[in-house]
Amino acid sequence: MSIIIAPSILAADFGNLQRDCEVVNNSKADWFHLDIMDGVFVPNISYGMPVISAINKIATKTLDVHLMIVDPDRYIETFKNLGADILTVHYEACTHLHRTLQNIKTNGMKAGVAVNPHTSIDLLKDILFDVDLVLIMSVNPGFGGQSFIENTYKKIENLKKMREESRSNFIIEVDGGVNSNNASKLIYSGADALVAGSFVFKSENPIKTIENLKNC
Ligand code: DX5
Ligand code: ZN
Repeated sequence: MSIIIAPSILAADFGNLQRDCEVVNNSKADWFHLDIMDGVFVPNISYGMPVISAINKIATKTLDVHLMIVDPDRYIETFKNLGADILTVHYEACTHLHRTLQNIKTNGMKAGVAVNPHTSIDLLKDILFDVDLVLIMSVNPGFGGQSFIENTYKKIENLKKMREESRSNFIIEVDGGVNSNNASKLIYSGADALVAGSFVFKSENPIKTIENLKNC
């Protein structure tokens, strides 16, 4: 299977949101990555429901929604109604993670769990069969444009090993500081999906940048 590319709309030009969504539609990208921040779980606030609804009207690809919010259970149904296909919650934000994941699936979405750079993937052992996707954060969540944390490669390799040994089946996604310098090594380590924000939208030719990532 070829690598899944998920441009992060956080780095798009919000004055030209329709144009940038169409860039993703017309590119080799597979998913739209939407970052939702509440100013509590992370020290930043991104965008909310009206923006997602606007994106959903334009987007012709999978909506991969990454919730960086406390108590995400309150909004699972809302995100389904907004068009989310994949809903990822943070391990660190869920007291009853198993219940939250079941809730996402009951609402007809794929369920993802994200882990911060300091969170050990060993903590996921007991929910490997309950997730469709594991999102490894390669920066501390909250902002685009940060530098990639090198420890990520090892984490991906170990997670891939865990998946093989347990014979479970989920997508390994990496998010934060992804660019052409680390993409091949991330894929080699075991990543199935790469999120890229600044590297795509701050480049001169985002369509070409996405294609280059896809061919890594
Ligand atoms: C960070 C977000 C990322 C962010 C990635 O908290 O989860 O998805 O948009 O942006 P870059 O690719 O610029 O690091
Ligand atoms: Zn994200």
